Amino acid sequence: MDIMQKLEQAGIIPVVVLDRTEDAVPTAKALLKGGIGVMEITFRTAAARDAIRAVAENVPEMIVGAGTVLNVAQCEAASQAGAQFIVSPGLDIPLTESCIREGLAVIPGCVTPSEIMAILALGLKTVKFFPASVYGGLDAMKALSGPFPGLKFIPTGGVNAGNLREYIAAPFISAAGGSWMCKKADIAAGKFDQISALSEEAVRIIREVRQ
Ligand code: 3PG
Repeated sequence: MDIMQKLEQAGIIPVVVLDRTEDAVPTAKALLKGGIGVMEITFRTAAARDAIRAVAENVPEMIVGAGTVLNVAQCEAASQAGAQFIVSPGLDIPLTESCIREGLAVIPGCVTPSEIMAILALGLKTVKFFPASVYGGLDAMKALSGPFPGLKFIPTGGVNAGNLREYIAAPFISAAGGSWMCKKADIAAGKFDQISALSEEAVRIIREVRQ
């Protein structure tokens, strides 16, 4: 099973913003305790690269990826730190091609037919749909599935425990992403049990929908 298949099997990709590298391992372990074996650590903070490395080296059962990757340099830094997949909020062709060349799973953000056609031409079949709630949510992805059958979406931006069920039930969605399981305030306060509890809730919803 390749990484994209593993992400689809998980059905959920927690988006994690870490201000302190030392929070990376406890956050990864809290997600695992809640039944989630995937996490996306975003390059929105200076701690991202070291946080990815800490998880890759200390929590080998966790599939750790890098999020908010905006250019080839960040992508190389993430990959060297041990990121197993790369998520970008938008479509950057050099970044996407570089991942493909390196054999690194990449999920570019695409919300328009033209962007989707560009990634299909590169041989990709899964896109991030961000910010999902702003760009038309399920209705928009359903409409885009018409001309692009077989394309899979990973919606993020406004996904939470309240609407996860309807997103994940759609056949054109491979997984849903979001930050609601790993709230910055919970991480800052060391409330890792809360992360496990929210992860368990998300896993239960996905199991119910997919059974
Ligand atoms: C992302 O980077 O995918 C989003 O910022 C996650 O959006 P959310 O914070 O609304 O879950």
